[in-house]
Amino acid sequence: MNFSEQLKDKITHIEGILSEYLPPEEGKQKTVIEAMNYSITAGGKRLRPMLMEETFTMFGGEGDVIKPFMAAIEMIHTYSLVHDDLPALDNDEYRRGKKTTHAVFGEAMGILAGDALLNYAFEVASTAFDIELSPKVAKALQVLSSKSGIYGMIGGQIADIESEGKKVGIDTIEFIHRLKCGALIESSMLIGAILAGASEQEQTLIEQIGADVGYAFQIQDDILDMTSSTEVLGKPVGSDSKNEKSTYVSLKGLEQAKADVAEISARAIDTLDSLPYENPFLKDLINMLINREK
Ligand code: IPE
Ligand code: IPE
Ligand code: MG
Ligand code: MG
Ligand code: MG
Repeated sequence: MNFSEQLKDKITHIEGILSEYLPPEEGKQKTVIEAMNYSITAGGKRLRPMLMEETFTMFGGEGDVIKPFMAAIEMIHTYSLVHDDLPALDNDEYRRGKKTTHAVFGEAMGILAGDALLNYAFEVASTAFDIELSPKVAKALQVLSSKSGIYGMIGGQIADIESEGKKVGIDTIEFIHRLKCGALIESSMLIGAILAGASEQEQTLIEQIGADVGYAFQIQDDILDMTSSTEVLGKPVGSDSKNEKSTYVSLKGLEQAKADVAEISARAIDTLDSLPYENPFLKDLINMLINREK
């Protein structure tokens, strides 16, 4: 199988796991559950659960304990997108090739669906204790919660919003990118490593790899916001300039931004190569992200 066939298979596999954990659309909460499931099943690259599982298998991880965490990270990521698109934040109408959750279900349901996805993610992740009552699962939960919060993704979103309409420096952009996007990617890879039993030293290296992959991923996201189309991306282009955001591209220029994505990703691959484990697909995946078009 070539890389793109493998990628397709892995997305199908991840979506199968996700569907096992989606809440049934019933009861008086039906509307919000429909909104949750609408946003989760809309599609997307499923990159975070993929990185998590690939890191887990690279370190020899086996069994089902990874599954609730794979579902949980995609729920947290999806909630972050639902809230990111709200009128009070980026005010965007399209996501994953469909109308955004608030555009379909109304703003109040958009807010509540995001809240519900975040909480449900922890309901799901904590079922990992039913599979394995271990300190590894406890540590994975700590990572999942802290990388999503004020010291992680939410912290980046706060700095992003407060920087709108201002001229900020590259240090602020790096802070924003490493937190709003990098933190969940670090979380994904680190949880995979922890649950597979990687050593402390290996966990530190994996966290660095995740940080670089995540930083490069957000720079590429800024590039695509300027250079792609809504049809290809499945979300509006020009969202950053509409919201008067400084981006990596507005500060460093397109060519430098592209070169930096390649350099930061190469550093991630070098660190990966320094580990005495092999996962050719994971390496190909990180390389593919450098030139991704969506
Ligand atoms: C979009 O993430 C938000 C960023 C952190 C840049 P993705 O590009 O992974 O979005 P999906 O999951 O594929 O829709
Ligand atoms: C937001 O970055 C990342 C999160 C949702 C945490 P962006 O605002 O650039 O993401 P897109 O471009 O809307 O996907
Ligand atoms: Mg945003
Ligand atoms: Mg946005
Ligand atoms: Mg963007």
